Amino acid sequence: MQLQQTILEEKNPDEKLIQLILELKKQLNAVILVHNYQRPEMYKIADFIGDSLGLSEEAAKTDADIILFCGVKFMAETAKILSPKKTVLLPSLDAGCALADMATLEQLKKVKEKHPDAAVVSYVNANADIKAESDVCCTSMNAVKIVNSLPNKEIIFLPDKNLGRYVASKTDKKIILWDGYCFVHDKLNAEMLDDLKKDMPGAKIIAHPECKTDILQEADHISGTGGMAKFANSSNAKDFIVVTECGMTEKLKEDVPDKNFYSFCNICPYMKYTTLPLVVSSLTQKQHEITLPEETIKKARKALDKMLEYS
Ligand code: 13P
Ligand code: SF4
Repeated sequence: MQLQQTILEEKNPDEKLIQLILELKKQLNAVILVHNYQRPEMYKIADFIGDSLGLSEEAAKTDADIILFCGVKFMAETAKILSPKKTVLLPSLDAGCALADMATLEQLKKVKEKHPDAAVVSYVNANADIKAESDVCCTSMNAVKIVNSLPNKEIIFLPDKNLGRYVASKTDKKIILWDGYCFVHDKLNAEMLDDLKKDMPGAKIIAHPECKTDILQEADHISGTGGMAKFANSSNAKDFIVVTECGMTEKLKEDVPDKNFYSFCNICPYMKYTTLPLVVSSLTQKQHEITLPEETIKKARKALDKMLEYS
């Protein structure tokens, strides 16, 4: 504690905090996962940096005793579902997700009653109890494939209506949309994007599928954060307008240094709650541990496994 206090009082404590975290990580046999949208200094403590599902999958392959998730709660829950024997820590209790919280179990049960023949497909950006009540999970990258692989003609798709609409445009199935959205993406305005495009006629547009339909119609590439660098690398274009959470542009600049990335973005406050000092507290005091009922883990795991089977 004495050492931590001294570090926090220094002018530029980041480097020393990073060293301390790297030490603690070794001592505790912990693995640190950092989502692409996190503050850039968090990248320096990461064992893995990536998208929400990919990170949990990587952590499950390790023999770490502790998984510390620099991301938001539903992501840490997914890590717990895939690694039930490991201790999963979320440094900030404020790191929730407005989109995930737009679907409650009670509401889902009511919609299921109304549509008894429909399959439930939940996007991985959903809380653990919703995953557990779903037939299958999906990511933004495999959502269309999952929906088309199911035998059911009707699909309850939740919680994101923008991704749901995108899926509906690519399938003949009846998609029952959930009225949920991510305000970070949903607030982005297509007219403003048009103006930006006029100023940069050669730039390609990369958009996250949580954006509204009019933005997605303008996009050259639609993908979750995990597929954006791959597209930029394989494209002949030099300039890209990145339409998602602002942190992603910084990550792309690091990953693809020979190309130019411009943001059309909003900040997700939930993603910025995690800081280096909170990671130190989390590791030293084992806070805040993610615990889930065994039954929830079992059922949610089944829905995630089914996704892997179909994709
Ligand atoms: P990805 O799974 O694409 O990383 O997205 C996570 C997220 O929170 C999007 O808003
Ligand atoms: Fe949730 Fe949106 Fe933030 Fe992603 S960007 S964590 S979906 S509120």
